[in-house]
Amino acid sequence: MRSFIGVLSVVALSAVLAAAADHPGKVSFDKSCKACHAADGAGNPGMAKMLKVTMRSLGSAEVQKASDADLKKAITDGTGKMKPVAGLTGKQADDLVAYIRTLKK
Ligand code: HEC
Repeated sequence: MRSFIGVLSVVALSAVLAAAADHPGKVSFDKSCKACHAADGAGNPGMAKMLKVTMRSLGSAEVQKASDADLKKAITDGTGKMKPVAGLTGKQADDLVAYIRTLKK
């Protein structure tokens, strides 16, 4: 019985991990955003220094209080020192917004 439960929890855990890895927004994030924003959205200090800007963590309350439309606009139109991210479909931008929501602290 115990080993059965053990197997079950391994299955459940891998399902959770696979779900996290498969977030469609994560694929785009890793490709188009991670270099500047870091994997967890906290921001790459080297990039912030180079651009002479304070990068807020994407999971922070300040960023999370923005509406989905505002976040999408930041991605497609740029914001402050961040240039618009080119080559994204509307669906990819929506997925990215959904992914940013998962970074909430
Ligand atoms: C070349 C580096 C770079 C890339 C690539 C980049 N960003 Fe940014 N991003 C920045 C910087 C720098 C800021 C802060 C801009 C400012 O405040 O002047 C920022 C700000 C933001 C903000 C607003 C945060 C706030 O403080 O309100 C969002 C949302 C965001 N980025 C999302 C993304 C997403 C999603 C991607 C990928 C599709 C992405 N960024 C790609 C550099 C980058």
